[in-house]
Amino acid sequence: MTGPIIRSAVEADLESIRRIYEHDVLTGTASFEIDPPDRETIRTRWQLAGEAGLPYLVAMIENQVVAFAYALPYRPRPAYRYTVEHSIYVDRSWRRRGIGKQLLDRLVELLTGCGIREIIGIIGDSTNEASLLAHESAGFHQVGTLQNVGRKFDRWLDTVIVQRSLSPSPNEATKIQ
Ligand SMILES: CC(C)(COP(=O)(O)OP(=O)(O)OC[C@H]1O[C@@H](n2cnc3c(N)ncnc32)[C@H](O)[C@@H]1OP(=O)(O)O)[C@@H](O)C(=O)NCCC(=O)NCCS
Repeated sequence: MTGPIIRSAVEADLESIRRIYEHDVLTGTASFEIDPPDRETIRTRWQLAGEAGLPYLVAMIENQVVAFAYALPYRPRPAYRYTVEHSIYVDRSWRRRGIGKQLLDRLVELLTGCGIREIIGIIGDSTNEASLLAHESAGFHQVGTLQNVGRKFDRWLDTVIVQRSLSPSPNEATKIQ
C-alpha cells in the first residue's frame, strides 16, 4: 500500500466522514455518542475547527477518505485557549496499516505550528487497546482514568485521558501571555 495522502478536510469529504464515524458510534465504545450525528452536526464540528484556526484532516487512499482527525478547543473558558481536544477515526477496513499514526503525527505537527501547548484525548473506553497504543506510539502519555462515567450497550464505561505536550517555538512562547 502506498502511504495515505493527508490533507485538510473539505465540505465534499463530510459524507465519508459521517459514514466512518457512524459505524463506530453504532458498534463501538470509542465514541460516547449513541445516535450517529447527522451531516449537519458533522458540518458544524468541521466549521468550528476552521473558525478556531485548528486542523481538521482526512487521510485519502485511492481518492477515498479512509480516516479523519481533528482538534477543537478543549474548554470554552479563555485560559484554556492553548489546549485542544482531538478525535481520530480510521475506517474499520483500513486499520492497523499505520494510517492512524501518520494522521496523529500530522495533527500534532500542525497543532505545534498553531502555537497550541497541550493536546488532550479522551479515550473511550479503558479496554480500547488500539487507541491507547496508537496514542502512546504518537507520544501521548496516560494521565488517568475516569471510572464508570459512561453507559452504552448496557455497560458502564471508563474514559482514559491522554495528553501530549508540545514545545512552543521560542517565537510562539513569547506570544503566549
Ligand atoms: C485507534 C485508531 C485510530 C488507530 O488507527 P490505526 O490506523 O489502526 O493505527 P496504526 O495502524 O497507525 O497503529 C498505530 C500503533 O498502534 C498499534 N495498534 C493499533 N491498533 C492496534 C490493535 N488493535 N491492537 C494492538 N495494537 C494496535 C499499532 O501496532 C501501532 O503501534 P506502533 O506504532 O508501535 O507500530 C483506530 O483503531 C480507530 O479508528 N479505532 C476506533 C476509533 C477510536 O478508538 N478512536 C480514538 C478515539 S480518541
